[in-house]
Amino acid sequence: MTAREEIFALREELNAHNYNYYVLSAPTISDREFDEKMRRLQELEAAHPECFDPASPSQRVGSDLGSEGFRQVLHARPMLSLANTYSRSEVEDFYRRVEQGLNGEPFEICCELKFDGLSISLIYEEGRLVRAVTRGDGVRGDDVTANVRTIRSIPLTLRGEGWPEDFEIRGEVLMPWASFERLNAEREANEEPLFANPRNAASGTLKLLSPTEVARRQLDAYLYYLLADELPTDGHFENLQAARQWGFKVSDAMRKCGSLEEVMAFINYWDTERKNLPVATDGVVLKVNSVRQQEQLGYTAKVPRWAIAYKFKAEQALTRLSSVTYQVGRMGTVTPVANFDAVPLSGTIVRRATLHNDDFVQALDLHIGDMVYVEKGGEIIPKITAVDVDSRGMMLGDKVRMVARCPECGTPLVRYEGEAAWYCPNDAGCPPQLKGRIEHFVSRKAMNIDGLGGETVDLLWSAGLVHDAADLYQLRAIDVSRLPRMGQKSALNIVHGIEASKSVPFERVLFAIGIRFVGETVAKTLAQAFRNMDAVAAARLDELTAVPEIGEKIAQSVIRFFNDDRNRTFVERLREAGLQFAMSEEADDAPASDALKGKSIIISGVFQHHSRDEYKALIERHGGTNVSSISSKTSFVLAGENMGPAKREKAESLGVPLVNEQQFLQMIGEG
Ligand code: IVH
Repeated sequence: MTAREEIFALREELNAHNYNYYVLSAPTISDREFDEKMRRLQELEAAHPECFDPASPSQRVGSDLGSEGFRQVLHARPMLSLANTYSRSEVEDFYRRVEQGLNGEPFEICCELKFDGLSISLIYEEGRLVRAVTRGDGVRGDDVTANVRTIRSIPLTLRGEGWPEDFEIRGEVLMPWASFERLNAEREANEEPLFANPRNAASGTLKLLSPTEVARRQLDAYLYYLLADELPTDGHFENLQAARQWGFKVSDAMRKCGSLEEVMAFINYWDTERKNLPVATDGVVLKVNSVRQQEQLGYTAKVPRWAIAYKFKAEQALTRLSSVTYQVGRMGTVTPVANFDAVPLSGTIVRRATLHNDDFVQALDLHIGDMVYVEKGGEIIPKITAVDVDSRGMMLGDKVRMVARCPECGTPLVRYEGEAAWYCPNDAGCPPQLKGRIEHFVSRKAMNIDGLGGETVDLLWSAGLVHDAADLYQLRAIDVSRLPRMGQKSALNIVHGIEASKSVPFERVLFAIGIRFVGETVAKTLAQAFRNMDAVAAARLDELTAVPEIGEKIAQSVIRFFNDDRNRTFVERLREAGLQFAMSEEADDAPASDALKGKSIIISGVFQHHSRDEYKALIERHGGTNVSSISSKTSFVLAGENMGPAKREKAESLGVPLVNEQQFLQMIGEG
């Protein structure tokens, strides 16, 4: 077998395994075997760039998008939403209107689940995914193709036969409960704001500029609407069954109903049964099945007359508030948490709910022992929505009041002007804050120290081996190996991981040191603007706020951090340990050539070999200027895949040439 043949065979095989795993949920090989085959394919593709194919299963994770974000694309057919109702009698009205509209002609209603994610439009040409666009305002949306490619249940190339040459298929991108819970647990550990529900999480994820991160978050997608000039059949249900054969994930919970009674039975069944699904649903959608009849019924100004969404009521449970405890985060925020008698709610047993802050608690007028309504309604983190005041007996429990002192270290709490939260100000001595900051420092997005998780940090802390993150760099394998349940090998692993973290780039060091309000993105922005730690530490308020995206709140926080002697000492110890305190020189390099001297260049589309940011840097290093809007003075457009039609037309009309990625790389001698 030639390499080319092997590449093709592996692609086909991996596509089949992806389909078995993500669409059918019935894998036939182990993850390890899959990874081995994927690695082999990647090796072969790297050695044979002439076989490159953006639809290869190896291309599910592409390069990062530029900071400009997503291109706006016009929908070929506007993406309408549906008329909504919470009332069964309005469902009956809908049914009667359809009967009348079709002048008594027999019809069927296709009943489906209403998935609670965000709608997506996928465009296929000749059996290949060419574009994925969010709903946006219904007329134009964001081109999120690079991110959607990472969703394993969406086929990049179609299976089977009979698909129209060009078609659109619409559906819902979802974050399954399991991925959602994992993501929020991670965010909680990092004290990042939690997503309120899987829908927000899915939409936040799809708008990320890093497909790698999107891939990690494990989105899924169900497809529910096929559009083409020539559809396989007149039946909506039948068309979706065909789409399933082509590799799309189509819900099994679809029924064609011939009477209102059957429709109501479908609604009743799923009102309870949906709690057992792996994804969030918020109702059912009823559609006239015949496409011809759909056309006959037509549309109002905003919604189709041939469909309606019936929404389920948010699920609630009534339970008894047993206690309120207080959690102290790494930044010292003290959050009240309600603990109540365990109750089942939307498929899980809930025992706790965040009470956010004191304002929230006071607004509820909570007393211990109160019967409280807990709600999920698409929100996985349960919320206490109300107190059942009528069930209060003669004996009213203690009123819930914010504690005055830190539950962990006893320090009186403080509240800052304009903030709802209470803080423990003892940042130098309060154990969960100190430990939390070390955990943050070693976490994946910060220094990413292999083998060091919350548990090990806890052990190191309890053994008195580390008091802050700088102590990590003094650790010897022999000390670590004496910890309970720690083998020599893991100890060595940890020490190596710590050593390796010395080459983690400056922007992540800046994130890791834990300045309040300086998250991953802000750290990157500051690092790019000031280039090194000393410049950040010395920056004045006006210099900080002059940086785009940096407001007064962040600026003040940076200044406060570096004004504190303890923080300065901590940072100095990290410098001595040898961490990266400046941006790598690569980006500042003297011009690599003057191949692009005097040229002003626009970057558009998605690229295979470098990210857009890398192309920007390359343009500058070769003497060119990257510009953002096209004019007759523009020298050329560096055009990637999926370049917007509007930009393309504009370039053509101004006579600005398009240069593709390969040609560009040749121009700068990287071809
Ligand atoms: S059909 C013209 N089917 O609900 C009909 N939509 O409020 C287009 N949705 O924007 C939509 N599950 O995001 C349809 N089985 C389903 C759906 C569904 C969820 C969403 C979709 C749409 C919104 C309508």
